Amino acid sequence: MYRSHNCGELRISNLEQEVSLSGWVQKVRDKGFFIWIDLRDRYGITQLILDKERSSNEIFDLGKTIGREYVINVKGLVIERSSKNPKIKTGEIEVLVSELVILNSSKTPPFTIEDQTDGGEELRMKYRYLDIRRPVLKNNLILRHKITQEVRKYLSDKMFLEIETPYLIKSTPEGARDFVVPSRMNGGEFYALPQSPQTFKQLLMVAGLDKYFQIVKCFRDEDLRADRQPEFTQIDCEMSFVNQDDVLNSFEGLIKHLFSSIKNINLDKFPRMSYDEAIKNYGTDKPDLRYEMKFIELNDVTQHKDFNIFNSAELVVGFVVKSGNSFSRKDLDKYTDWVKRPQIGASGLVYMRVQDDGTYKSSVDKFYDESDLKQWANISDAKAGDILFILCGDSENVRKQLGALRVHVADNLNLKDPELFTPLWVVDFPLLEWDEESNSYHAMHHPFTSPKSEHIKLIDSDPSAVRADAYDLVLNGNEIGGGSIRIHDKKIQQKMFDCLGFSKEEAEKQFGFLMNAFEYGAPPHGGIAFGLDRIVALMGGQEIIRDFIAFPKNNSGRDIMIDSPSTISDEQMKELQLKSTKK
Ligand code: AMO
Repeated sequence: MYRSHNCGELRISNLEQEVSLSGWVQKVRDKGFFIWIDLRDRYGITQLILDKERSSNEIFDLGKTIGREYVINVKGLVIERSSKNPKIKTGEIEVLVSELVILNSSKTPPFTIEDQTDGGEELRMKYRYLDIRRPVLKNNLILRHKITQEVRKYLSDKMFLEIETPYLIKSTPEGARDFVVPSRMNGGEFYALPQSPQTFKQLLMVAGLDKYFQIVKCFRDEDLRADRQPEFTQIDCEMSFVNQDDVLNSFEGLIKHLFSSIKNINLDKFPRMSYDEAIKNYGTDKPDLRYEMKFIELNDVTQHKDFNIFNSAELVVGFVVKSGNSFSRKDLDKYTDWVKRPQIGASGLVYMRVQDDGTYKSSVDKFYDESDLKQWANISDAKAGDILFILCGDSENVRKQLGALRVHVADNLNLKDPELFTPLWVVDFPLLEWDEESNSYHAMHHPFTSPKSEHIKLIDSDPSAVRADAYDLVLNGNEIGGGSIRIHDKKIQQKMFDCLGFSKEEAEKQFGFLMNAFEYGAPPHGGIAFGLDRIVALMGGQEIIRDFIAFPKNNSGRDIMIDSPSTISDEQMKELQLKSTKK
């Protein structure tokens, strides 16, 4: 028998029992007459003791040959420890080993298999199976498992059917590049891996299945960031006969359920904010509401003085940092340099301190007197001890820049409490966005998103004013989900394609299957997809998703463990009718 118990199970109540355990050797401490071994498995660590007097010579000598990460099986007696370890659950006992079998030896691992490891990122990725032995990573995967189980339970109880959709499809119009797969049987033709099951879930609604969900891999060939992987997992959902409120309420229920069942946190009703409000007040469509620093527009109190930089700006806007008067001159120089970096692109940072005695000091004192600055303080509600940061420029850019500064200040001041959760529905997204490069409109969400019924009339005359029944769920400044009510009327869909510059033939070629389906009685429908990796990471207290995925890609989209992507043989190339571009 490999084991009677696991390595996290034995307690003082098991004293004097004969047990058998199997696992990996975490640590060996050889003290001459005694050898202590920490034996680890998924469930915990149990201390083993080999005693020159009480264990046989043969076992004792074998014990001396054991190294880190050896896989062993022992039998022995549970005894009370003389020095107890209250930090681990098995810390009151140890197992006096009477039999020992080495099941497998191990090379010395390239990094320490503990929470605080000495292994660098790349090394840990290369030996991911060793990295997963570390409790942090293991616990992340356990958290992921619990979340997916709760999702399945919750949605299934609400009558959602889990249905698989194909991976070898034709391009889905989600806006990123597709990963493509050459077809051997149809030489010269390619499948695309889905960026999401969007069109299929809509077809399932036409098919009458009413409520669908799928925990599904999606593939997007886009630049990677901390919260992006080229293959990631969505909790993808769709419902029939619903309006926007129905969808938001249903899935608010799901997220609340996850937090209450897994983290024992009862979230209040999620606030809703329009896209326009989010941009105006926070400079982003995914504001982090764990902290304030809401924007204040200052044109009225800063313009028409002698400061031309403000006078010539379309927008002068700022936010108050509570207790920011404590920033030193050096801190302020650093913030100024930070906003001037090309990635942010501001021309400079103006600030006004409200000093502890209530007087004002600004970086533009030459142009503004005490009464001007008092107005700034009044309008922004800056109090003694605070600082007001101000940027100016054209509205769109300056809001983006100030939004980035807001996040940067929050980072520096540790305002991002990972155990505080502030969900927010951002609603009323624009239907279209103008793309300078192609000189045309693009669908902001995707081409099947329904314009608000009262805005349909604006599609021809003022396309950028049209708002859609589209929504995102934002959690602590991260977009964790997005969806919309779909167009189910063929005429409106055609109008949308016209607006996006698709000719009838192009629309037919790309989406004919969907348009045809819509001729056979498409119900009103809508849905949402959540980024599972992001939800798990945030619930695990982090924003980087990589360590919540068992086998992720690195920043250049490579799996360095299996060394992929890789070239294929000439034979395979020939079979697939592909020509090599290699010199
Ligand atoms: P969307 O493109 O907004 O919507 O994607 C839904 C959610 O998926 C997550 N996500 C990602 N997570 C990790 N890595 C990525 N590269 C990545 N890209 C997206 C985000 C996002 O909110 N078909 C629509 C949904 C719908 O309309 O129902 C869609 O895919 O958390």
